[in-house]
Formats: sequence, structure tokens, C-alpha cells
Amino acid sequence: MKVAVIGAGTMGSGIAQAFAQTEGYDVILTDITLELAQKGQQRIAKGLQSRVERGKLDQAVADQINGRIKVGLLADCADRDLIVEAVLEEISIKKETFKQLDAIVGPDCILASNTSSLSITEMAQGLNHHLVGMHFFNPAPVMKLVEIIPGLSTPQEVVDKVTAIATELGKTPVQVKEAAGFVVNRILVPLVNEGIAIYADGLASAEGIDTAMKLGANHPMGPLELGDLIGLDVCLAIMEVLQKETGEDKYRPHPLLRKMVRGGKLGRKTGEGFYKYS
Ligand code: CAA
Repeated sequence: MKVAVIGAGTMGSGIAQAFAQTEGYDVILTDITLELAQKGQQRIAKGLQSRVERGKLDQAVADQINGRIKVGLLADCADRDLIVEAVLEEISIKKETFKQLDAIVGPDCILASNTSSLSITEMAQGLNHHLVGMHFFNPAPVMKLVEIIPGLSTPQEVVDKVTAIATELGKTPVQVKEAAGFVVNRILVPLVNEGIAIYADGLASAEGIDTAMKLGANHPMGPLELGDLIGLDVCLAIMEVLQKETGEDKYRPHPLLRKMVRGGKLGRKTGEGFYKYS
């Protein structure tokens, strides 16, 4: 199957790798410039090489995965069967991306969005192609869940097709009705926001809060390190969508979350969030 992933950031490159790990998938990773797409491709190669060096992956398998990923631009996506969009979490940018793809891809191509909280129905407005939500989780090559989100006009056959594809990738798809944050982010991102509130109140250190949730609730990561992994800008965008769509104050982004984003401390991707990364 010929797939393209649009956006070569953390999620886009992770999703490209998730496809390329499965035989029979050929992936084009795109971004607004070839250089950005190549950066994503290099990130994948570096991650695979590190697993080879730690004896977790055969060099031949790493070579196969790398060999299934090419880089390109939107114009190179004309022959794709499935496109997964993972651009910035802004509805206007996503709509513009789909508008351009709609004019490029063949009639049977399925368009999918990796949006973490926005409306599939709104993104699909005015498109000739079917659109569905296919929401992966960070780190996408590892995390087993894919939320499958039909919009108002997504046909069942498209839902069935992407559900089968997610299963083929070794993931477990869960169908979710369209609603802000779907299932996971409606629970998880307010948890990160609450961790930030506890930190801002000075109840414990960042390490203390994270250790408490890892050992007291068996979470694989504490809320602050999780916020740094997801990206604090992404957490803020999701809280804003949750608050706007539901009108509920319990989803108010904590002022410290806003301040960190304004200060460019977005977590792992900028080298600093609640922790520093080398
Ligand atoms: N890319 C590829 N592989 C990765 C990876 C990455 N970024 N990070 C870790 N891995 C792999 C490692 O290579 C390792 O596999 P091998 O042992 O075969 O090499 C495996 O994952 C486990 O990693 P580690 O041993 O380094 O560390 P760990 O056991 O602590 O697991 C973790 C790391 C999987 C990230 C784990 O801490 C975890 O599950 N954390 C919670 C992640 C989470 O909640 N994600 C959801 C975020 S919400 C979201 O993404 C939705 C959204 O829209 C915002």
C-alpha cells in the first residue's frame, strides 16, 4: 500500500516509521520543504540505529524500514492510497493542507487526519475525498492505540478500511465518536494540566510529582514528563479546544502552561520544558 504522511515533526515521523515497520507499506514523508522532510527521515534513521547499537534490532531490518521511507512534497502524493496528515494542530492549516491534497490525489485515495482534538467533520467540508480521523499516540512506532474517528459524512467502508490498516500495523484500533479530545486526550491532557497546577502550587518538585504518579498510580510517565513528551504547545492547544468546545471551566489551561509555551519551553522538542534535555 502506498502511504504518505504529511508533516515530518515528532508525530509525522513516528507515524511514517509505524507504517514502514510493516512489510508491504511504502511511505512518502513530506513537509513544507524537502529539508524538513529529510530531518524527519534522519530522526527515524537515528532512532533505528540506536536500537541496532543496543542490540534490539537487526541492521538488516533497520535497513528495510529505512528503505521503505522516501521524502517528498505534497505534489509527490498523487499515486498514494492513503494520506495521513500530521501538520500543526490548527484547523486553518489542516483545512488548507487537505484542500491542496484533494486536488492532487487519485479518486480512491483515503484522507486521514492525526488530529488530537479537532473536528473531522469541519476538516472534510468542501472536499471531494473521504476523510477520517486516525489518531496515533506518541511515540507512534511503539504505542499500540489508534483512535479511529468518523466524521459526519465518513462512509463505514472507509472506517472499516483504516481500522483494518491500523490492525495490520500491529495496533489496536478503537472507534470513537467525534468530540473534542476524543477519549484519550480528554482524560490525559487535563491530567497533565493538573500536574502543572500542583507544581505551580509548590506542593512537590517536578520529580516528586512524576514519581508520585509513576509509583502511586503505575503510570509509565508522570504528568510533567508526559507533558514534555507530548509538547506543551500541543497540550495547550488541546486544553483550549476542550474548553472552547465544552464551555466547561474545568478544562481551563493553567497559566503556567501558557507561560511555558510563550517562553518557548515546549518540552523535549525544544530541549527544555519541565526538565532539560540534551
Ligand atoms: N520512538 C521509537 N521508539 C521508542 C521511542 C520513540 N520516540 N521511545 C521509546 N521507544 C522504544 C524504545 O526503543 C524501547 O524499545 P526497545 O526496548 O525494543 O528498544 C521501548 O520503546 C521502550 O522504551 P524505553 O525502554 O526507553 O523506555 P520505557 O520502557 O520507559 O518506555 C515509553 C518509553 C514507551 C515512552 C513509556 O514511557 C510510555 O509508555 N510513556 C507514556 C507515553 C504516553 O502516554 N503517550 C501518549 C501521549 S498522548 C498522545 O500522544 C496523544 C496526543 O494527541 C497528544
